[in-house]
Amino acid sequence: MLDYLNGTRTLETDILRTYASAPGKVILTGEHFVVFGAPALAIAINRRIVVGVNQRTDRRLHIVSSLGKSGEFEQDKFNLEEGGPEARDFLEPVRIAAESVLKRYGANKGLNIQVNSDVPVASGLGSSSAISVATVASVGEAIGLNLSKEEILDLSLTAERFVHKNPSGIDIAIATFGGTILYERERGMTRIEDMPNLALVIGNTGIARNTGSLVESVRRRRDHFPSTINPLIAAAQALTGSAVEALRARDLEKLGELLDINHGLLAAVGTSCIELDRLVYAARSVGALGAKLTGAGGGGCMIALCSDENLVTVSEAIRRANGSPITVVKTEEGVLTWKEN
Ligand code: PMV
Repeated sequence: MLDYLNGTRTLETDILRTYASAPGKVILTGEHFVVFGAPALAIAINRRIVVGVNQRTDRRLHIVSSLGKSGEFEQDKFNLEEGGPEARDFLEPVRIAAESVLKRYGANKGLNIQVNSDVPVASGLGSSSAISVATVASVGEAIGLNLSKEEILDLSLTAERFVHKNPSGIDIAIATFGGTILYERERGMTRIEDMPNLALVIGNTGIARNTGSLVESVRRRRDHFPSTINPLIAAAQALTGSAVEALRARDLEKLGELLDINHGLLAAVGTSCIELDRLVYAARSVGALGAKLTGAGGGGCMIALCSDENLVTVSEAIRRANGSPITVVKTEEGVLTWKEN
């Protein structure tokens, strides 16, 4: 797959090769409740998606992913190259992101697109949004547009709506702008500057899940029990406000306790599972300041807030509980583009 990157496989044309990268993220507080208007707090992490693009002489979109899937889209036809029957669904979001740029700017061009991922997929770390953002930015650059971050955000959001019907937009915002953001559906994002660096361990259950169906299941629960679920949305709103205060005050013990409460709220709306709970309790039992699932839940990842001293102990506890620990740090860098000639 990397043969396009290292030049051992010939591309249709070598007119121009552009790259863009975008970070994955963890949601510290407020996922799911953000879909219903509550604020959520997210940080960009030092795991990125890189998308390389160059123009072809025909109108086809040839897409290669470092995860072993590749094929060519020619209008509604898909010619599979690698990755089996699920390759088309896997590559479709990349095609949609690329076409959102081509269509908006009336550019009728074929492209070679290669996606390299350092963010685990379908695990709550924002890989699909980072792919959309990096694809939009790289395609924009390849066809000579000088897209602003706001334009990249807007085009990527259009693409994200095909992947999951009712996204709040938080994942796209953090992949575009990086750093720490407070996000509200109505008001959009506020970047929060001067935040402390957090010692975080991500625990991956390795269970893939679908964000759209989990968002839908929370909506159903809310429709069935509005007078029970609406107060939880209000509680999540207050919780994110307190989390921002705790961060500003560098009060990590308070932040940790808020993460624990947030996990309880997410369990109440039905988005935790036994595998996530095991990792959360394993981290807490060896002294994590707080632990919760992150992202859509139902599998995927949890986060544990640690002190510098117990990062390793917490990682080991997560591993013993059948999770894969990943230590991450915050990154300020949102989407970045560059060219190779
Ligand atoms: O796709 P994930 O797992 O990173 O979760 C997205 C966050 C949700 O709040 C669950 C959905 C959304 O659109 O905000």
